[in-house]
Amino acid sequence: MTQDRHDPNRFARRLFSPLPDRYERLAELLSLGQNSRWRRAMVDHIVPAAPASVLDVACGPAGVALQLADRTGAGVVGLDLTFEMLEQGTRAVAAQGRADRVRLVNGRAEQLPFADAAFDALTFTYLLRYVDDPEATLREVARVVAPGGPVASMEFLVPPSRFWRCWWWGFTRLLLPVGGWVTGGRQWWTVGRFLGPNISSHYRRYPVEWTVGAWERAGLVDVGVRRMSLGGGLVMWGRRAGG
Ligand SMILES: C[S@@+](CC[C@H](N)C(=O)[O-])C[C@H]1O[C@@H](n2cnc3c(N)ncnc32)[C@H](O)[C@@H]1O
Repeated sequence: MTQDRHDPNRFARRLFSPLPDRYERLAELLSLGQNSRWRRAMVDHIVPAAPASVLDVACGPAGVALQLADRTGAGVVGLDLTFEMLEQGTRAVAAQGRADRVRLVNGRAEQLPFADAAFDALTFTYLLRYVDDPEATLREVARVVAPGGPVASMEFLVPPSRFWRCWWWGFTRLLLPVGGWVTGGRQWWTVGRFLGPNISSHYRRYPVEWTVGAWERAGLVDVGVRRMSLGGGLVMWGRRAGG
């Protein structure tokens, strides 16, 4: 499967639609337990604001949305492109008895079906590598946050140190595809093979410093970054200007 730069949504839908069943378990296993650490660190930036409403963009099977509901008193909306992810998310929300507080909707981050400043806070996870224009998507994401509201995200990253980058390269190019195949079969092999080169090429095009600037150009202020897990993960935060 190759990434069609002219139709990135189609690519993401095809990549993610076969994955939801075991997504949470395999994402955890194949990230060597780091996914949940990054997720918690991201949500830590939302909790102190005690928002009444939060939008989680690219929610997948609702793991982040559920954590937001658990750790804040907010009503949470999770939005994702892929129906199959949302179906799995709906099951997860029901299983945790959170249907009263978590609502899932189908949509695109590039064109959110919400009014300006509709949410008190917003998170997005593993999103910008799948959109054609990360800067425009950041503007769209910032648009729906109320002035002063916190925004936080998480992503994979390429370790800055040459030493750890060599290990990371071996892990993403060899262990991830093979581990994906062993634990999840052909579809996870495809994801495992895709991820390493995709992360590398994303940061060649959009380094972290560029991404910080893009957050600021989108109207977000007090932007911070935390490199986690030897630089393999990136948590970012900021807040919508004003308020
Ligand atoms: C790696 S999964 C992460 C799911 C979830 N955020 C988590 O951390 O468990 C990436 C998700 O992004 C969604 N996605 C990709 N491009 C998107 C877009 N343009 N708009 C909305 N969702 C998108 C995919 O459907 C997929 O569910």
